[in-house]
Amino acid sequence: MAKSRSVFICTKCGTEHSKWMGQCQGCKEWNTLVEETQTKSKPDPRAWSGDNASSRPLKIDEVEHTTVQRFPIRDEEFSRVLGGGIVPGSVVLLGGEPGIGKSTLLLQMALKFSGTVAYISGEESPSQIKLRAERIGRTESELFLLSETKTEAIFNHLKTMRPHLVVVDSIQTLHVPHVESTPGSVAQIRESAASFIRYAKETGTPVLLIGHINKEGSIAGPKILEHMVDVVLQFEGDPNLLYRILRAHKNRFGSTHEIGLYTMEQAGLQGVANPSDLLLTKQHDGLSGNAVAVLLEGVRPMLLELQALCSTAVYGTPQRSTTGFDTRRLNMLLAVLEKRCGFRLGQKDVFLNITGGLRVDDPALDLAVIAAILSSNADEPISGKVCFAAEVGLTGEVRPVTKVEQRIREAEKLGFERIYVSGHHQIEKSHYDIAIVGLKRIEELVRAQF
Ligand code: TYD
Ligand code: MG
Repeated sequence: MAKSRSVFICTKCGTEHSKWMGQCQGCKEWNTLVEETQTKSKPDPRAWSGDNASSRPLKIDEVEHTTVQRFPIRDEEFSRVLGGGIVPGSVVLLGGEPGIGKSTLLLQMALKFSGTVAYISGEESPSQIKLRAERIGRTESELFLLSETKTEAIFNHLKTMRPHLVVVDSIQTLHVPHVESTPGSVAQIRESAASFIRYAKETGTPVLLIGHINKEGSIAGPKILEHMVDVVLQFEGDPNLLYRILRAHKNRFGSTHEIGLYTMEQAGLQGVANPSDLLLTKQHDGLSGNAVAVLLEGVRPMLLELQALCSTAVYGTPQRSTTGFDTRRLNMLLAVLEKRCGFRLGQKDVFLNITGGLRVDDPALDLAVIAAILSSNADEPISGKVCFAAEVGLTGEVRPVTKVEQRIREAEKLGFERIYVSGHHQIEKSHYDIAIVGLKRIEELVRAQF
């Protein structure tokens, strides 16, 4: 006879507690326990019967080498982030803030998929989805809509349908009947994700799950959800701005350095093939405080613009404020400038913006940040044909960055005339049509540019 009981589950690690506690006994996090009702069934008496004929241990050299044939995705950005197509039997979790475009992204991809797709939505009705598909401008496709939240019913449909791809919008709306708690609770999310993972592995059908995120920006539900799935993607961007960025936080089948760039248009999301075009405004010639940096997102170099503003501090403590850049890193760079170049920035407010609402943590931005600050401080514009790609160390040394040749090529391709890099790189300057200036210390930048 099944008996229900109340348990307290940690939303971070999933550890169960019989009573409420301030701190999880498993991961030692504070305030992560939530109460849930669980129905406990008897333990399976066959669990250790030893009758496991379906599997046997394999010696490593017995294992056959199989190359996975990925299903192609006709969305270049998405495909690249996944590592080139979608792996059969894989489970992908896509998180993101409400309204950022998760449903649009997956619907769009599903509409272009070659094969039958089951699009399961517990959030929107089929007619709403149809409207969206019309807006995207594609309705002829092997896409089947299923408005259902009970996992049992969903799996019954999937058994007869045998789709090539399954999309679930969203994991928080699913309901597993044998778990007695409300949809969206830790136990429900964990169970329904587990059942979709089993389905994916057993049938070889890839499953894409949409997950809501909580206030802290991580996917709502147990943290272990991210360990269970193969790929965790995050769709981000400022809803008021045009750009959307797709990033992989975890990818069992590819790198996590790739990003996909989209713009949200009237007719759905459009991939951005040439990001630099979008990120450079090209209108700043003659204005001080602007500098262009060459950064690398995954294998793709791109140029982007930084803006700095230094002004005399009005209040006692000068302000340091950044968008898209780490404030601590800015403080560090300011300290280096103060110490090594004798600039008195301690009395100044410093603001730093990365255009386009991008959030970047490539250290190669350092030199451009310093250049933008110096430019604003001296009120001396930097030519729009000059760019920067180097890290700056605490002693003021200009340090090399990864894949510098690729960055130089990109700058050259976009018509830049001069690039500042670290003097520690071994670069054959005659191979390029762009002037390459190698710096070893930031003092040299001041002499060369200001
Ligand atoms: P949606 O995919 O519903 O977001 P999520 O599933 O992440 O909550 O996208 C919602 C926003 O996208 C909505 O504000 C309208 C906008 N949008 C467009 O600008 N163009 C379009 O073609 C579509 C379909 C949506
Ligand atoms: Mg949605």
